[in-house]
Amino acid sequence: MTVVLPVASGKGGVGKSVLSANLGVALARAGKAVVLVDLDLGGSNLHTVLGMRNKYAGVGHYITKQEDSIEALLLETEVKRLFFVPGDALLPGTANLPFFRKQRMIKELSGLPADFVILDLGSGSSYNTIDFFLTTSSGLVVCTFEPTSILNAYSFLKTALFRLIYRSFPAKSEERKVIEEFGNRKLEGSSHSFQDLPRRLRSVSAESADRAEEQLAAFAPRVVLNMGRSSADLQLGARLRGIVRKNLGLELEYAGVLPYDEEISRSVLERRPDILRRPDSRFAYNVDQIARKLIDAPVLRPPVLYEEDEDLRALSRQLASD
Ligand SMILES: Nc1ncnc2c1ncn2[C@@H]1O[C@H](COP(=O)(O)OP(=O)(O)OP(=O)(O)O)[C@@H](O)[C@H]1O
Ligand SMILES: [Mg+2]
Repeated sequence: MTVVLPVASGKGGVGKSVLSANLGVALARAGKAVVLVDLDLGGSNLHTVLGMRNKYAGVGHYITKQEDSIEALLLETEVKRLFFVPGDALLPGTANLPFFRKQRMIKELSGLPADFVILDLGSGSSYNTIDFFLTTSSGLVVCTFEPTSILNAYSFLKTALFRLIYRSFPAKSEERKVIEEFGNRKLEGSSHSFQDLPRRLRSVSAESADRAEEQLAAFAPRVVLNMGRSSADLQLGARLRGIVRKNLGLELEYAGVLPYDEEISRSVLERRPDILRRPDSRFAYNVDQIARKLIDAPVLRPPVLYEEDEDLRALSRQLASD
């Protein structure tokens, strides 16, 4: 069974690519087959962190249909069992991903022959990013100990949760209207918590409310805190957990914490994952701890979602297959 692990963040530059690369190495060394996919479309740079040359076809070629399967893009790396799929650095401008292609891509990624498929996502809450994040119920969100980073992580989780519930119901359904209305009110600053949403949906039907509640209960994103300088920093982690619990009704799990270490930027410059350079560092130890936790975690079933444009999708089946 392939575990898809999207790595997202609300704010850029918090360490998603550093985590993805080092975690990939750690999982591969622990005996797992791992595929690292650069899905930071428009900002692909995972190859640099990994020390791969930027000369191979990647996701950009798949999006523009110059390559027909993701699996055909797999590259070996210097680490046994660790494979890499480049992004669109060779074909900039392919960041716009048509939804048929995205759906097919998500299916292919989930079916890659590996134990773990790590998706290094772009930062922020664009729908493309969120939809890749929702490939699984328990994606990773990276955040640092700055208050703005914590707030951005919170916004990211809120947007992801909103989209999860929205896509739990078919296009043009009564439920989506209720959810949209709830979202608009929330944007206006009302203090309603997400827990009120199932109650609203009860006006449509009891089953709709139950479905929303089930989807909320099964959503279990995990946070990795990066660039910690002292254990006092963890207070901010508790704050994030508090607002997520209060406003989103989610119990946030922490997958781990990584220390701030100047050697990391040196590793990036030297184009070598830090845990290969310094296997005995605190950083390497903590990455291994995260890997261990991920290996031991129960595999949750992915959320069952409707597509944004289910009606168009149905029509597309009446034309050539995509
Ligand atoms: N634990 C750490 N200690 C010190 N510096 C770090 C640490 N993690 C990341 N960095 C620094 O932060 C920089 C940004 O990291 P990275 O590229 O992984 O972020 P990102 O979230 O992928 O960014 P983007 O959103 O641009 O894709 C790295 O080049 C490195 O210099
Ligand atoms: Mg990155």
